[in-house]
Amino acid sequence: MISIPSFAKINLGLTIGPKRPDGFHELRTVYQTVAIHDVVRVQLEPGSGIEIRCDDAQVPLDSSNTCYKIAERVLEAAARLKPAATKVIIEIEKRLPVQGGLGAASSNAVATMLALERALRIALTPAGELRIAGDVGSDLPLFLLGGTVLGVGRGEEVYPLPDLPRLHIVLVTASVGVSTPQAFARWDELVARNAGLTPPGAAGTINEFSGRVFTWLSKSFSQALPASGVPARGGNRAETPLLDLVRAGIENDFERVVFPEYPDLREVKELLLREGAHYASLSGSGSTLYGLFASETEALRAADRISAAGHNALPTRTLTRAEYWEALARGGE
Ligand code: C5P
Repeated sequence: MISIPSFAKINLGLTIGPKRPDGFHELRTVYQTVAIHDVVRVQLEPGSGIEIRCDDAQVPLDSSNTCYKIAERVLEAAARLKPAATKVIIEIEKRLPVQGGLGAASSNAVATMLALERALRIALTPAGELRIAGDVGSDLPLFLLGGTVLGVGRGEEVYPLPDLPRLHIVLVTASVGVSTPQAFARWDELVARNAGLTPPGAAGTINEFSGRVFTWLSKSFSQALPASGVPARGGNRAETPLLDLVRAGIENDFERVVFPEYPDLREVKELLLREGAHYASLSGSGSTLYGLFASETEALRAADRISAAGHNALPTRTLTRAEYWEALARGGE
């Protein structure tokens, strides 16, 4: 049995662009992996077929599960490498919220691919892995990079960015499940209603986003990293990128359609800011909101207070690319 941790991501800003001829929306976002995870276990038996096991009733166990879809694709590729009569059993131990905007289902699928490759003793090429991941879903390829990642195209075209200095995070997941296709549909309605005014999804906005992200990143890194390139530790140095992020005005466009529909989520964002977050935002299309804090102490205190107010608040931190791959190599137990 191969066991792999399957980490969550947050979006540090997300700009939605025009709807493309293929029905997807052009996106610009910065993904960041964080230190909380599900565990995915893959086991092979003689026979055929793919079986998904999961205790969480919200997780589908049929061929609509992203883990199922990716396992099918990996088996197809493996059949070309070596013939096999193999049954694949995929067990998902859920710790992350389902439909939370944390990319859990996407991350589960990438963990399945990596575990299945190990179990079958095959190695797909990095390009092959990226292609399969992007075919299964827009949010999968980022998990083949980990750390801080720029996402363009429909989100599936990914570029590794220099790791941010460690940021402390509080995640708050509301009990509503926000459907991503529905949030995109609401966005299209908003753009249609605003036609002739200032369409929020105008092509110019997306280029502006890239500009803001790059300004923020270059300022953050030139100030936060010493000449050696080793991230600064301790003190309040994490504040610089935080403040730059706020000044750059990086926002998540989904807030414009998700907050009016779920006003409780806007209140959670305000609560995070009141509890000392330097920046707070919806992740993906939600329903998870995150707050960025300058120190672990501040994040822990805020998480306690937000939990005491009756919310599901979880303290965590950013996970660098090296930490991500070290954890995947160690396995999920
Ligand atoms: O790629 P993924 O399976 O995650 O996308 C789910 C749905 O979200 C798509 O079918 C599409 O409706 C919408 N989507 C979109 N634009 C994107 C990503 C997703 O419209 N960039």
